[in-house]
Amino acid sequence: MSAGRSFNFTHAIVRIPSRSVVKGLTSVDKGMPDADRLLNEHLAYTNVLRAIGARVTVLPRLERFPDSVFVEDAALCLGGSAIVLRPGASSRYGEAGMIRPDLEKLFATVIDLPGPGFVDGGDVLASDSELFVGLSARTDANGFEALKAVAEPLGYAVRPVHTPAEILHFKTDCGLLDSKTIFSTEALADTGCFSGYRVITAPVGEEAAANLVRFNNSVLVTAGYPQTVAKLESKGYEVIVVASYEAAKLDGGLSCMSLRFSL
Ligand code: GLY
Repeated sequence: MSAGRSFNFTHAIVRIPSRSVVKGLTSVDKGMPDADRLLNEHLAYTNVLRAIGARVTVLPRLERFPDSVFVEDAALCLGGSAIVLRPGASSRYGEAGMIRPDLEKLFATVIDLPGPGFVDGGDVLASDSELFVGLSARTDANGFEALKAVAEPLGYAVRPVHTPAEILHFKTDCGLLDSKTIFSTEALADTGCFSGYRVITAPVGEEAAANLVRFNNSVLVTAGYPQTVAKLESKGYEVIVVASYEAAKLDGGLSCMSLRFSL
């Protein structure tokens, strides 16, 4: 296990949002996203990744898959290996097959998660040594067992955790800050699922900031959550604020819009 492998990265993959993104899945009506604004926010997000050291592969839009901008759900990248996942929403099944050829161009090893279960990448939080896999409406017990069988030989313990019913993905409510520290909503932290780790909680009222992204020395935080920024900066983290208002209307957070890895 190499220290920092969960956030020291050289590469990222993003996918340009389709025009059909306005028909993406959503659990709560937060208004229709604006496709042009989402595209602009996505471009800015991609440029931030470049600025902090990512060599970014930009995949073309997929009109058939409205949620395909949320590229994190279709694959899991662990070191030099990529696992092609099985997204759990029927409208998203095909996204895994679409990304496979792109993963083959980058990774020495590409592994298909065996069926019949389902795993969305948004339900998987990776630390240096361990995967937290949130069982959810998208990620089931069969998917968990399949991922465990694939990830353990890659050097990861695999911990089943519960995704609260009111959120879409496990990582809707948490993000990794460093090898030993997780940022989480109080509600999720209170379940005890992060035992063995230090937890910093999102300020009350700023729970939507919990889905942050640590990439090299920077922590990307969604715009609109000043107390979160102040709290993280007071603890020594270098924060970059990223606008993601339109993706949020589709339950999309900052982590959902990229795959991050080191080659
Ligand atoms: N809109 C993101 C998802 O449901 O997967």
